[in-house]
Amino acid sequence: MSKVKVAMVGNGGICGYHLEHLTQFDDVEFVGFHDVIRERAVARCEQTNGKRVYDSLEDMLDDSKPDALYICVPPNQHGHIEQAAIDRGINFFCEKPIALDLAMAHRIRDGVEAKGLITAVGFQDRYLDIIQNVKGWLGEHKVGMVSGAWIGGIPGVEWWPHYATSGGQIVEQNIHLFDMIRYLFGEPARVYCTGSRGIVTKEDYDLHDFSTAVVTMKSGLVVTLHTGCFRPNGPSDPNCLCILCDDADITYKLRSYAKLTTAETTLSYRRMTDQGIPEDRTFLDAVKSGDPSKIRSPYSDACKSLALTLACNESLFTGKVIELA
Ligand SMILES: NC(=O)c1ccc[n+]([C@@H]2O[C@H](COP(=O)([O-])OP(=O)(O)OC[C@H]3O[C@@H](n4cnc5c(N)ncnc54)[C@H](O)[C@@H]3O)[C@@H](O)[C@H]2O)c1
Repeated sequence: MSKVKVAMVGNGGICGYHLEHLTQFDDVEFVGFHDVIRERAVARCEQTNGKRVYDSLEDMLDDSKPDALYICVPPNQHGHIEQAAIDRGINFFCEKPIALDLAMAHRIRDGVEAKGLITAVGFQDRYLDIIQNVKGWLGEHKVGMVSGAWIGGIPGVEWWPHYATSGGQIVEQNIHLFDMIRYLFGEPARVYCTGSRGIVTKEDYDLHDFSTAVVTMKSGLVVTLHTGCFRPNGPSDPNCLCILCDDADITYKLRSYAKLTTAETTLSYRRMTDQGIPEDRTFLDAVKSGDPSKIRSPYSDACKSLALTLACNESLFTGKVIELA
């Protein structure tokens, strides 16, 4: 395959982010765009000199016959789109969170496996250059405690402020850090999560303003992650992972820098490249070669980050400690 035929469903904000990268590659052909708001599909198609806009997902898949489908829809819109791709044997890149229903995500995972499809999920931070520095340092020091935060305001998409449509801030947004702790430290054993409301006064909003989750990893490591949307203009930026080792501190500042401090030295590396470029390139190369081994977050792995964040929600609503499989 010299060119990869790409179709895109959901043509809003994150679709634009992927297009910034895909349009830099000379082996991508944009064969179809589909969005329930047609004008958005038209705009993306014009932006990319794409082949055409479709009013139906199924027509797009049947007619344009893409090698790869980008699925960039809100969290509550997944399921039938992935199934349509599976039925037709089409590889797909799916934005996180991959679903709000774990049983459904597992059915999709099994369908993907049965058809041998190549998938990737938008955990872009796994492709950060500075995360490789963190990974290297972790191999040299013994980790004790980890804490982290993703705290800010409310994004401007209408589906975000509702559990029913976004899954809440942990599932929709801080899933990036929950996924990162799995990428860095292995699988979680159990989670307890508590949170509160009362600061955000926005109408038409049913989320927690903030929450704290304590995750015990299977290794015994304890990770505390804070999540909040009550601080759009806070005086400081708390968003990071702070990793306390026996003889070193490792800081991963969200999409910004990684720092190692020991008694003798301080090493600091800034992010140099947009992690979305290797994220998209790796997926396309896998589709071209048929070899998925370099994809850092296939659909089956992303199911585990979804399970962890849904367990946080369950704990948040029941007050119970949730054991993970
Ligand atoms: N990986 C990341 O860092 C990252 C960043 C931002 C957003 N996201 C994720 O991407 C997804 C989309 O976010 P966004 O910011 O692009 O939202 P958005 O609202 O800007 O875009 C979503 C688009 O999907 C369309 N849509 C909704 N239902 C559809 C359906 N059934 N079929 C076809 N089109 C449909 C909407 O009309 C809209 O244009 C979310 O799950 C979000 O969490 C990921």
